Amino acid sequence: MGEGGREHALAWAIARSPRLTELHAAPGNPGIAALGQCHPVRAEDGEGILALCVTLGIDLVVVGPEGPLVSGIADELRRAGIAVFGPSAAAARIEGSKRFAKRLMQAAGVPTAESLAVAQLPCVVKADGLAAGKGVYVCRTRDELDRGLRAAAARGTGTLIEELLEGEEISLLAITDGRTILPLAPAQDFKRALDGDAGPNTGGMGSYSPVPRLDDADLEELVDRVHRPVIEALARGGTPFVGCLYAGLMLTDQGPRVLEFNCRFGDPETQSLLPRLESDLLEALAAAAGGDLTGVELEVGTHAAVTVVLAGSSYPEHGDTGTPIDGVDSAEEAGALVFHAGTALQDGRLVSHGGRVLNVTGLGASVADARDAAYAAIDRISFPGALYRRDIAALAHA
Ligand code: AMP
Ligand code: GLY
Repeated sequence: MGEGGREHALAWAIARSPRLTELHAAPGNPGIAALGQCHPVRAEDGEGILALCVTLGIDLVVVGPEGPLVSGIADELRRAGIAVFGPSAAAARIEGSKRFAKRLMQAAGVPTAESLAVAQLPCVVKADGLAAGKGVYVCRTRDELDRGLRAAAARGTGTLIEELLEGEEISLLAITDGRTILPLAPAQDFKRALDGDAGPNTGGMGSYSPVPRLDDADLEELVDRVHRPVIEALARGGTPFVGCLYAGLMLTDQGPRVLEFNCRFGDPETQSLLPRLESDLLEALAAAAGGDLTGVELEVGTHAAVTVVLAGSSYPEHGDTGTPIDGVDSAEEAGALVFHAGTALQDGRLVSHGGRVLNVTGLGASVADARDAAYAAIDRISFPGALYRRDIAALAHA
């Protein structure tokens, strides 16, 4: 379920599995259409999704975006006897309600930013509820604070204030059946529109994995301090989390702190993570959905991946439609993976259709090699006016 670059990457990894019989997407995109059959049913249309699954005799649903999960699509499908990779509405509150997530972390002893009863600078103001990345205001000045408080209040979902954390941000995703936890490798994403982390926040302009400064021991420690206590607490409370638990972490001088949890795969982290996977993703997703990941492994290769997002010229303010795109085949022939995020076919021709349009993933022995491969592939793509960052993964070092 879904239509972005994350879902194309999921479809791509699932399509590599020898276990796959048929792949259907709702609604999918032109990239996914090359791997399976797309159906014009939106991910938000719960009734339509359920009807489609029954008609097609679907064995397993993999949910991409958070909206339908928070609204309870996994519960509805499970009630109909269909296996789902994705949490129940009760467990998805970990993303849907920042207040719920904070309480859960406090109860489970997971390190996170301190909540502040009264706003004092510097701090971060957050609107509760799903806000597609737009409900967070980092405030260092009086003026930013005034604007942040007003903007958060205007959303009408309640306001939280917390201490401002400094450090490097990483994303750590793990697949779980509610008990067993299989982490993917750490990744980093780039939220700002322009080079040097300037410009407005976006849905994400690029990603890379691995994060060279974190080794396997660091990864295990993070999972033990962050994912495990939360997953155990949710299971104890009778709302086990089945799906991908995404922790957004700040690595501060005082240790790791959770910024947020998401109840699904990250976008565009997934586009860099799945191409590194050497195990059968479908096997893991099906086992998690079936409630037993025992004995399943997720092997991640030693190679690196770097994903650069090509967006329309006026992203993030406006989408871009109908701009012709050429050279995707040539980029793929050069060894890159091109995941579609906002594209459409118009009279058989590939055109832009959205804000973020293509995700180009380069692979290589090191992050630097993968980065070179991604940018070399982009040079083969013609997409007039494309906006993309030139500095994705440029500072990744051990
Ligand atoms: P969230 O949606 O909560 O992840 O917040 C979006 C972004 O805001 C994060 O990726 C961080 O860059 C930033 N952010 C959130 N909380 C904090 C915090 N307590 N301190 C510093 N930056 C934060
Ligand atoms: N890359 C950030 C997110 O998926 O929420």
